[in-house]
Amino acid sequence: MTVLTARRTRWGLAAAGGAAAAAWWLGDRAPYPYAQRTLLDIPLPYLTCGRLDEVLRPRPGERILEIGPGTGLQSVHVAPQLGPAGRLDVVDIQPEMLDHVTRRAEERGIANITATESDARTLPFGEETFDAVYLVTALGEIPEPDRVLREVARVLAPMGRLVVGEFFDRHWIPFGRLHRLADASGLHLETRHGPTLAYLSRFRPCPRPGTVMSAV
Ligand SMILES: C[S@@+](CC[C@H](N)C(=O)[O-])C[C@H]1O[C@@H](n2cnc3c(N)ncnc32)[C@H](O)[C@@H]1O
Repeated sequence: MTVLTARRTRWGLAAAGGAAAAAWWLGDRAPYPYAQRTLLDIPLPYLTCGRLDEVLRPRPGERILEIGPGTGLQSVHVAPQLGPAGRLDVVDIQPEMLDHVTRRAEERGIANITATESDARTLPFGEETFDAVYLVTALGEIPEPDRVLREVARVLAPMGRLVVGEFFDRHWIPFGRLHRLADASGLHLETRHGPTLAYLSRFRPCPRPGTVMSAV
């Protein structure tokens, strides 16, 4: 093999490796592995539970849906704020995650969390069921986030709110893309906290023709 051929082969292999890595980074949509669950308990900048409270504003008596709770870092923080008359539904595609949330809630004496195994692209709830829906570092991991947003718009009450938290990892949805997807699903932007690399944003269902709105 000449020096030139050897160099070309090395460059070819490097390019193929780079393309495979890029395809994995951009294309893989496997759910977050339960084996790596301990990492989920590390609070991310701009996405702390305190910030989630500011943007979601959970209130006693509300029924709220969390999609993709993982091990329940946010669930056990939000559910107690809903009180005994309120309820937090958590939906995840991985039963191990839901079992983890349920155990964690039991250890803390939290009795108002209901766990349901489901794919977020087909939510097992009726129209206008929830006062609020939230997803933290979950939307980008789910294939077809546009379908998830349409489902969220369907299950949200007319004055409900959606909060989406995204962080720069390989499943990250840049804020601009989320804004466009939400718009197309009938959800309009109300506020965004944090830079595009790590943000929490709140949306509301777009008013239906003839509706008189009074936001809280
Ligand atoms: C990165 S974890 C985020 C966990 C948690 N929200 C947090 O911030 O710690 C993403 C979660 O979304 C769930 N998930 C992935 N695909 C899903 C789908 N199609 N439907 C419902 N949940 C899904 C995963 O099982 C996982 O629990």
